[in-house]
Amino acid sequence: MAGELSRLVRRGLPEVRLEEPKKQGLGSVTYPFDPRLGWLAVQHHRTSARVLWDLYETRAARLEPLYDELLRAASEDRRPWCWDGARLSVEAYGVEEFAAGERQIVGTVKNALIDGAASRRMALTVEPEHPELRVQVRLYEGTLVVSLDLSGRPMHMRGYRMEAGDAPLREDLAALLVMLARYDARTEALFDPLAGSGTIAVEAAFLAKGRPVWMSGRKPDAERHPLFGALARPKPLFADTTPVLFVSEIDRKLRETMERTFLTTGIERDVAILGGDFRNIDPKLVVERARERGVERGVIVTNPPYGERMGSPDALRALYRDLGAWCWELRGWRCAFLVANPEFLEAFGGRPRIAKPLRNGPLRGYFYLFEG
Ligand SMILES: C[S@@+](CC[C@H](N)C(=O)[O-])C[C@H]1O[C@@H](n2cnc3c(N)ncnc32)[C@H](O)[C@@H]1O
Repeated sequence: MAGELSRLVRRGLPEVRLEEPKKQGLGSVTYPFDPRLGWLAVQHHRTSARVLWDLYETRAARLEPLYDELLRAASEDRRPWCWDGARLSVEAYGVEEFAAGERQIVGTVKNALIDGAASRRMALTVEPEHPELRVQVRLYEGTLVVSLDLSGRPMHMRGYRMEAGDAPLREDLAALLVMLARYDARTEALFDPLAGSGTIAVEAAFLAKGRPVWMSGRKPDAERHPLFGALARPKPLFADTTPVLFVSEIDRKLRETMERTFLTTGIERDVAILGGDFRNIDPKLVVERARERGVERGVIVTNPPYGERMGSPDALRALYRDLGAWCWELRGWRCAFLVANPEFLEAFGGRPRIAKPLRNGPLRGYFYLFEG
């Protein structure tokens, strides 16, 4: 996450010096707030699930002190996070360890924010269905953090996925996989041999070009916020990059879906569908096709099937074994996998240089990186 943001800042905000982020548990990094940084992240940061502006923190452990502390902070706050007449919603996540229930926390935070704004002559109204300001409350190691959600909806709802297979990878996770594989679009090809609906290839193309996250008319909440109104419209940050991407997928319908997605997202020249069953594709052909497009090295990035739909466990083990044998033929290419099946490693063969727990929705999985 931090790596992706530094790359975006170097290109999109060269005048900003990015400070070291604070980590808040797995999968969350925090920077001092700067509207330019918030805007860049909410428009471009592909590995984020949310982009939040942290407003208030409190270690209050009960509702009364929570209200008092937030009221004081909100009354004294001069930052333009809200405006007179704004419609507000409040949601709480992960607050099970607080001494009161989620609805009581939500009610208390709402009251404190509304009363605090009123003391500054601003009327906020509660509108859970169509809010302009979505406030989030979360609990982290005894601290309640109250934030404004700049994205408004989960960042993976980017607007390009019209259809998908049975097990599509969430878009932000696909982007994370590409980042963890350290794919360098300037010098490397990327091949997803088990591509499903093609999410990894789409995210790799968009990361390479620095394309804005939102498509098909979707917009983050920040676009309606006056604080960000004067900031530049998002545009691709690395528009001249031409990534070299390959996919294969055994299911014909999914290949058709991918083709449509590549066309509608405008990356049809960047991605080539090499065929169906990867086992019928000669690894040498992949190397040659990459060379024809100007790159000598490459990386396999994929998330293999993990269960039910593959039929018997034997068929799945055979697939992992064949994938191993196939990948090892691509000498010098790295291989990166998101795997949710404990049998993968043994059947694939070899020792990963990196093995890192990574959830895939409800599934506990692992990220593995093998050096070729
Ligand atoms: C877990 S899904 C990948 C999902 C994908 N990342 C996406 O976002 O849609 C695994 C895919 O591998 C495909 N598959 C299984 N065996 C295959 C083979 N031998 N060759 C190519 N694709 C295969 C399945 O049809 C399935 O779509």
